Amino acid sequence: SFKTLDDLEDGQRVLVRLDLNSPVEDGEVQDNRRFDRHAETVRELAERDFRVVLLAHQGRPGRDTFVSLEQHADILSEHVGRPVQFVPDTFGDDALAAIDDLDGGDVLLLENTRMCDEELPEEDPETKAETEFVETLAPVFDGYVNDAYSAAHRSHASLVGFALALPAHAGRVMETEYEANTAIAEREFDGEVTMVVGGTKATDVIDVMTALEDKVDTFLLGGIAGELFLRADGVPVGRDIEGMDLFDDQWEANEETIRGLIDDYGDQIRLALDLAFEAEGGERAEIEVGDVAEKDRAFLDVGSNTVSEYAATIEESEAVFVKGALGLFEDERFADGTVGVLEAIAGTDCFSVVGGGDTSRAIEMYGMEESDFGHVSIAGGAYIRALTGERLVGVEVLRE
Ligand code: 3PG
Repeated sequence: SFKTLDDLEDGQRVLVRLDLNSPVEDGEVQDNRRFDRHAETVRELAERDFRVVLLAHQGRPGRDTFVSLEQHADILSEHVGRPVQFVPDTFGDDALAAIDDLDGGDVLLLENTRMCDEELPEEDPETKAETEFVETLAPVFDGYVNDAYSAAHRSHASLVGFALALPAHAGRVMETEYEANTAIAEREFDGEVTMVVGGTKATDVIDVMTALEDKVDTFLLGGIAGELFLRADGVPVGRDIEGMDLFDDQWEANEETIRGLIDDYGDQIRLALDLAFEAEGGERAEIEVGDVAEKDRAFLDVGSNTVSEYAATIEESEAVFVKGALGLFEDERFADGTVGVLEAIAGTDCFSVVGGGDTSRAIEMYGMEESDFGHVSIAGGAYIRALTGERLVGVEVLRE
């Protein structure tokens, strides 16, 4: 596999790639578990007297979330429990001077890597290693650490270029994420393997189900994706949640594939028995799928019978993987499905991995303990790719 922080000699100058890409609301960067996780890697390096220089990205050019990393330095500093300096430059004179000024144990965050023109175009690692960005910065370091598992599906300069230019190592987050997220593709489990698949994106669900046909005994469906399957199964659901144009286009694009999966997989796929919606007074109400007569309302969660059935399956499983939420859990009235399934997992001693960006947020929103789960991933796109067995370029270059 790859070299880790255990293979680095203390006190060196290291360039460390983190993934601090975060939600931004009205220009304000929102704290989230990425800071908390990466803080462990940073703290270890600082305590071992390294001169620690951090690279990270935020948003993409043209989007509201494309902002400076100045606020990230303050948030990270709180999690690390040490100062994190910031310089608004990536590889110019200001950055080089700030790097040169560092003492052992100091931590410096450079500016958003995506502000460099050479960062983003998807090119092979060899080309990225020859960019001015990499050729300027690499010589002032003894080693490179990639901790940004959640961005490792991107062939960007800061993720693959430095890995060829310097001795490359996996950070602590990279190590744990890699091991947990590839478990379903790489490990053999003796007992039942169950996967909860939900969320809003049908193609993610279809890709995961297709890749894992032989690995997963039971797929428990929910969310918009689950509703599309119900519709293919003859239940007249499918009204869009207001303001979210998700249903009709996805139905048109995926109807045939979904029908094919239902035919091929048979009992391997389990669909909701009941669904929840907003009643006239605004409260949660439920209906059995057999009683849904026409496409007259939007459904926002799976119902309570479904939760009990799904929980019973989870209790008999040896391993459970979660990709996507079963309902609109941000609204307390429609959190029962997502929370019920997560609580069932937390209550068993099965091997478990929870991921898919938003889903893991339900854990903290509803006061569950992260330690009750085997692994809670901070990855979005990289998690889906890992589940489907795709190799991540940022991980591959660490092996070379
Ligand atoms: C993420 O937030 O999932 C990663 O940082 C990748 O970001 P990107 O999708 O903008 O490349």
